[in-house]
Order: sequence, then structure tokens, then C-alpha cells
Amino acid sequence: MDPDSPEEALPGLSDRPLGGWGLLQVAAGSGLAVYAVWAGILMPGFRRVPLRLQVPYLPASRAQVANVMSLLKGRPGGLTDLGSGDGRIVLEAYRQGFRPAVGYELNPWLVRLARFHAWRAGHYGKVSYLREDLWKVNLEQCKNISVFLAPSVLPLLQKKLLLELPTDAMVVAGRYPFPDWTVYRVEGEGVDRAWAYLIQAQRQAPPKEPTTESCIS
Ligand SMILES: C[S@@+](CC[C@H](N)C(=O)[O-])C[C@H]1O[C@@H](n2cnc3c(N)ncnc32)[C@H](O)[C@@H]1O
Repeated sequence: MDPDSPEEALPGLSDRPLGGWGLLQVAAGSGLAVYAVWAGILMPGFRRVPLRLQVPYLPASRAQVANVMSLLKGRPGGLTDLGSGDGRIVLEAYRQGFRPAVGYELNPWLVRLARFHAWRAGHYGKVSYLREDLWKVNLEQCKNISVFLAPSVLPLLQKKLLLELPTDAMVVAGRYPFPDWTVYRVEGEGVDRAWAYLIQAQRQAPPKEPTTESCIS
């Protein structure tokens, strides 16, 4: 019998207890595999983005896209999706007449996927998917913005949008509302809900009083 054959080796392995060192190796191996998937597929290009600003990909549902479009209905100008994922919001905005329709996305796989979807829909070259860090793009020309991001980044994003957007701009947030802004309109229920905000109204609103916690800290 060949001692190196799998039939011989496997029973030997299953009889042997793993032990502390073995468990450590399994844990390290699994951790590395998870990290490889995270860094290579889910979050490539995010190395220069601070950890607290990293938002993973989670595509908007059909209902969420429909709610965003309903809030944007009748608005002139283009649409910019910050963190455009596979490009579904940008593509739908283009279909509904928004020009230009632009998505900023850091993950190069998602940028490619979005371009593929645009090509399949017959709109390749008409919509723009740009591999850019949303924190570094200038939004001075954007009249309509959509964001499907995490609650942790929304306070900082409020500041950027208030600084850069034109007075007549509207921002639509999906899944999570902006923490300090006054809502103009709401569409949908539960996780599908989307909130619209007028920039002019936020600029006219009196600054929020600091909370007790922020005075202490
Ligand atoms: C929750 S997903 C939303 C995707 C898309 N907007 C949708 O609704 O289907 C957030 C997206 O933002 C992208 N993202 C996160 N931080 C970014 C950044 N700093 N610059 C560009 N894209 C970013 C992520 O890669 C991810 O695709």
C-alpha cells in the first residue's frame, strides 16, 4: 500500500486532533481568505480611503431605484450617483431623460460591470461611470445627486454637499437619511424609503445646537 495515497493519508489526518497550533493556522488561513476576498473583490481601490469612510457594495433594490426616480421626477439637468456600484441608478436616470448621467465608483470591478450593463442596454458611451473617489470629486455642476451610503459617512458628506452643490440642487438619499437636514419629500416604506433634500433649504436653516455629548467630549 502506498503511504502517500489520499486513501491512506486521509484517515490518518481525521484521527489526529488539531491542537492549538493547528487551530491557529486554520484561523489565520480563513482570515487571510476573507481578507483576500474583501481587498481583491469587494473593496479594491479603497486602500487610501480612511476605514471609517469605507462603504461596502450593496445594490439598491428595484423599489429603491423606483423611489429615487419618483423623487427626482420633473427635475431638470443631470444625475450624479456617488458610489454608483453596478450603475443601476445612473442607467435608470439616463432612461428617464437625465443628462448627463454620471456615476462615481472606486471599485474597478463595479465600474466595468456598470459599463457592461450600459452596453447591454444599448447606452454604452451615453452614460459615464468614472473610477473616482467621491470625496475628491468636485460637485459644483451637479443639480441632482443620489447617495446610497452608510450612516457613518453621512455627517461628513452633508458638509461636502453644502460646500459644493449649486443652490438649486437636490439630493436624494436611499436607505439612511441625512442626520441633520430638513427633509423635502419622502418616498417608500421601510428599507426601500428614500429622502429628498433641497440644498437651498439646508443653507437657510439655522445651524443645529451642539448636543450635550459634543459639549462634553
Ligand atoms: C451601498 S453601495 C450603493 C451602490 C449603488 N449606488 C446602488 O444603489 O446600487 C455603495 C457604493 O459606494 C462605493 N463607494 C464607497 N466609497 C466610495 C468612495 N469613496 N468613492 C467612490 N465610490 C465609493 C462602493 O464601492 C459601493 O459600490
